[in-house]
Amino acid sequence: MPQPLLYSAFVMDTASHILHGLWRQPDGGQVDFNSLELWTDLVKTLERGRFDVIFFADVHGVYGAPGESITRHVKAGLQIPSNDPAVILSALASHTEHLGLAITSSIVQDHPFSFARKMSTLDHASRGRIAWNIVTNGLSNGARNFGFESLTPHDERYAWAEEYMEVVYKLWEGSWDEGALLQDRVRGIHGDPTKVHRIDHVGRHYRVEGPHLVSPSPQRTPLLFQAGSSPAGMDFAARHGEAVFLMAPAPAFAAQAVAAIRERLAANGRRSDAIKFFQGLSFVIGSTEDEVARRDRALDEAIDYEAMITHLGGIMGIDLDVDALDRPIDSLTTEGARSLLDWVRAAVTDRVPTVRDIGLLASRSSRVSGTPEGIADQLTAWQAAGVDGINVINAVIPGSYVDFIEHLMPVLRRRGLAAQDYRPGSLRRKIFGHDRLADGHPGAAWRGAFGTAPGTVGA
Ligand SMILES: Cc1cc2nc3c(=O)[nH]c(=O)nc-3n(C[C@H](O)[C@H](O)[C@H](O)COP(=O)(O)O)c2cc1C
Repeated sequence: MPQPLLYSAFVMDTASHILHGLWRQPDGGQVDFNSLELWTDLVKTLERGRFDVIFFADVHGVYGAPGESITRHVKAGLQIPSNDPAVILSALASHTEHLGLAITSSIVQDHPFSFARKMSTLDHASRGRIAWNIVTNGLSNGARNFGFESLTPHDERYAWAEEYMEVVYKLWEGSWDEGALLQDRVRGIHGDPTKVHRIDHVGRHYRVEGPHLVSPSPQRTPLLFQAGSSPAGMDFAARHGEAVFLMAPAPAFAAQAVAAIRERLAANGRRSDAIKFFQGLSFVIGSTEDEVARRDRALDEAIDYEAMITHLGGIMGIDLDVDALDRPIDSLTTEGARSLLDWVRAAVTDRVPTVRDIGLLASRSSRVSGTPEGIADQLTAWQAAGVDGINVINAVIPGSYVDFIEHLMPVLRRRGLAAQDYRPGSLRRKIFGHDRLADGHPGAAWRGAFGTAPGTVGA
């Protein structure tokens, strides 16, 4: 029997996350993203289906190059409006017992002191089921929303993220020793002052005195997710990540990314199995090949390609001409999009590829279509490439997850590709067998780093 894969539901508190335009479908429940019940119902469904994690993507600004119009984004609901997932997480915790709760937060959008406090509070409230997807993202509007004149260059953002990590590790791992919270009613001593420490962090971006205001939560540091794909991003993932999200176009590409990050793990003195890799995939499930083909076509027809291309252009920082979807891409000369255009040219060989093909390919590259048995075969191929988990992209909420749970999970379980039940304990314990960061992890180095003398403030 193979090792069971892990399953994450990839969502965003918005109408149009990855597969754009599907909120227009009669069963596109994501249009009700403002309703808390959409999310509490979804987490209960996911837990009944034995999903491991719900993972919320997040942005802190609108996509687009400086000066680009936001008309298309607003019309398409392309990640605007978008709510703050951290705010609804405690409600989701109270409706579930086992499901991991992952949010994305960028180093730009929150000061590390308040972020560490918020995550510790959530980790307590969920009994240790919180995860953080660390992003350093390239949204120039996001940078300007937080008072920066322009976007910090790519590799400098990762250097900044290193300091951010140092601050939160000091707070989560170092500020409170084990056993500091006594709550001794007889002696009248709530906390042991010799075990609560200031961190006195002074760095390029932050000065944080401490102590951390929250006592140690079940995991202390939340389970750390990351999705860097550049060399600096992979270095960062190999230092800090415990799970890495991939969006590889085929298993062979996933194998390359896994090998590149594993090599870096060794260089960082971490075990080669210290990271779980999650591949993002969407699913079209049918009971016969004819039904699969019909559903595939229906999905192709329902997608908003203008929004797909606006989003892709936004991620790459270029303004693709979405007003001319049938324009041949041969006439495009954008330097920034060269690798994407080469990919489209290589994939479309029977005719002249157009701008629409960029969106079509992007919507299909991560799609797995088939009967439940056929899909299980394809997941076996992803697993053979080194993938430990699947990050399930939705077309509609909750329908995509209901279909997955009802039609696919029973087959995956029978074939050993999905676990029969949850393991007990915190999210990290369920996945790695222990509650706290592993010893070789850089965050663990801050344990006990701040001495034993009772602290003062402001001295
Ligand atoms: C599955 C997945 C989810 C991601 N989610 C977010 C997100 O929610 N917010 C965000 O700003 N960036 C997100 N990213 C972008 C990554 O954080 C990262 O910036 C990107 O993969 C490029 O890597 P690089 O920064 O090393 O170049 C995501 C990437 C992947 C593959």
